Amino acid sequence: MAEHEGALGAVYAAKRPEEVAALYDGWASTYDADMAAAGYRHPSICLALLSRHLPRGAAPLLDAGAGTGLVGEWLGIMGYPHVEALDISPGMLAVAERKGAYKALHRLALGGELPFADGAFAGIVSAGVFTTGHVGVEGLSELIRICRTGGVIVLTVKDTVWEDGFAAGIDELERRNVIRCVEETEPYVSMPGEKGTVPGRGLALRRL
Ligand SMILES: C[S@@+](CC[C@H](N)C(=O)[O-])C[C@H]1O[C@@H](n2cnc3c(N)ncnc32)[C@H](O)[C@@H]1O
Repeated sequence: MAEHEGALGAVYAAKRPEEVAALYDGWASTYDADMAAAGYRHPSICLALLSRHLPRGAAPLLDAGAGTGLVGEWLGIMGYPHVEALDISPGMLAVAERKGAYKALHRLALGGELPFADGAFAGIVSAGVFTTGHVGVEGLSELIRICRTGGVIVLTVKDTVWEDGFAAGIDELERRNVIRCVEETEPYVSMPGEKGTVPGRGLALRRL
């Protein structure tokens, strides 16, 4: 399989969260154009899944790993009135802030504890974050905790992360009646214009 080059290759190769944040800080100003050129699909898939499983008007929503706001900029138009952004990269959040789509921006890291109350959000969306070198299955438990009963978590999961404990984690959470996976897409290539992109899938999880 071909290696990714440039900014994408670097973020996938990052070993520590601070390194990931610094690399995204440096990429922030050209991220939207680069992803448009790559035909980036995760935001569209996440928006489709969210609007299928979470009623218009549901609030508040959290965009976890919001980046420059490629998802958030559509959510208001789609009828979700209050969306907050979380990301580890201040540079990405600064671009997101300029779009004016978020009611609050949080510079925080997924994978550890989050400073939100249990059930704080009606819905959570996380596009392109459960991927190589970013966040693995360990990031899911806090998102579940801060999603209210009956709420929905929509996320994408790269196949390598899926096979590296994510699928087993979902099975276990379903067995314990913590969540129900209400939709799982077929694996698809998220960046058709980027050679060697490992497929991923979209999931909609209902908090029980
Ligand atoms: C591929 S981008 C996706 C951004 C946006 N969701 C989108 O679809 O365009 C991945 C984002 O996850 C963020 N990220 C990576 N690791 C993170 C972590 N541990 N906690 C929070 N954000 C993280 C990066 O800073 C980056 O903005």
